[in-house]
Amino acid sequence: MQSPCTVLIVLATLISFPTRTPAKEIQLRFVTWRPEAAWVWDRVIADFEAENPGVKIVREVGPHSSTEFHDLVTQKLRNRDPGMDVFFMDVIWPAEFASAGWTLPLDRFFPPSEQKEFLPAPIQANTYQGRIYGVPVFIDAGLLYYRKDLLQKHHLPPPRTWPELVANAKVILAKETDPHLTGFSGQFKQYEGLVCNMMEYILSNGGSLWDEKELKSALELPRAKQAVVFVRDRIIGEISHRGVLAYQEPESLALFSEGKAIFHRNWPYAWQAVNDPRKSKISGKVGMRPLPAFPGGKSVAALGGWQLGISRFSRKPELAWKFVAFMTGREIQKRLALTGLAPTRKGLYEDADIIGKNPQFKSQLETFLLAVPRPRTPVYSPLSNIMQRYFSSAVAIPASDVDQLARLAARDTDRVLDLLREKSRP
Ligand code: GLC
Repeated sequence: MQSPCTVLIVLATLISFPTRTPAKEIQLRFVTWRPEAAWVWDRVIADFEAENPGVKIVREVGPHSSTEFHDLVTQKLRNRDPGMDVFFMDVIWPAEFASAGWTLPLDRFFPPSEQKEFLPAPIQANTYQGRIYGVPVFIDAGLLYYRKDLLQKHHLPPPRTWPELVANAKVILAKETDPHLTGFSGQFKQYEGLVCNMMEYILSNGGSLWDEKELKSALELPRAKQAVVFVRDRIIGEISHRGVLAYQEPESLALFSEGKAIFHRNWPYAWQAVNDPRKSKISGKVGMRPLPAFPGGKSVAALGGWQLGISRFSRKPELAWKFVAFMTGREIQKRLALTGLAPTRKGLYEDADIIGKNPQFKSQLETFLLAVPRPRTPVYSPLSNIMQRYFSSAVAIPASDVDQLARLAARDTDRVLDLLREKSRP
């Protein structure tokens, strides 16, 4: 039996040292890349955490290159790693991830009535065999940026065809005395961006990457090869710095922003960056329009953009959805759109604040609606690797044997496409 004194001491101790352990933090792991306006994303994530006390978003920042980011994410998915809940997906991945069973179908959270609020192309890209696997965050489409001041100075109109672009660049280069000025800056490193750039040349010459109905490569067809030779001999051979062969988006944008290129191919985000005097020497001197075509062809913009997906191996799918819904809701899309990322929610193209800050979205909307997707197939990744190797050697080596390289690439492409044909056989 304890004395009343001991009981009092025990009670006092319990009162002064509460035994309640603090609520355990719930972590949600998000695999992302480093965004342009990083501080805005930091705020957005902090706001989600503030609205959801006890939840911590742990970010893993992957590489910028879509190809390298794909390797990181697919490695985790192959390992069934529960340490990744939510991740960014390039517009070309949902078919592959869905067919591998790596991403959670989102239909119960993201019904057609809600999907209708979004632009149709990214919704289609996220749909595989009738189910939806990602929610689009922003849309991309290739655009031509140009030095309005230099074209005006030399009395030249913005080019509508690729040969005109090369000719205009040569006129300006011959008359300007700046030894650092070059004609064109785009993305020609061996990675996914190269496929986007080359696809725009090939399709605007009436060619294609492969015949999606016949499941047969089209790289060996004359229109595709002519476009590749044009890039090798005229875009890279005549008006670009050879450094473009190692450029992804950031390096090519930096060259243009430093005032060292007359023409530049990039996605919509580049508009705010080139017009920000803190980051750019050519703010206010830039024009933008749809990409040129070959004579007789039509301008083609590759469809790009990023979505959020939820890993099938996440142990917190409900919370993961809460985060995805927050990040893709109207309010956050608006905040991201104000940083220059083109929204995927249709209604935001009517939003006065967004259009006030980004009037270019109004004219770009048509390009977004017409942008051409890269073929939607679970084997896109191996096909892209074949094309990346082909395009890279074809345009980087001045006297490359394009016939032979195209033949080999077409043969390899057909082998991969044969697998699809066998799969679809009854
Ligand atoms: C952009 C596009 C993406 C594309 C990539 C290539 O991030 O949104 O779709 O694959 O560029 O570099």
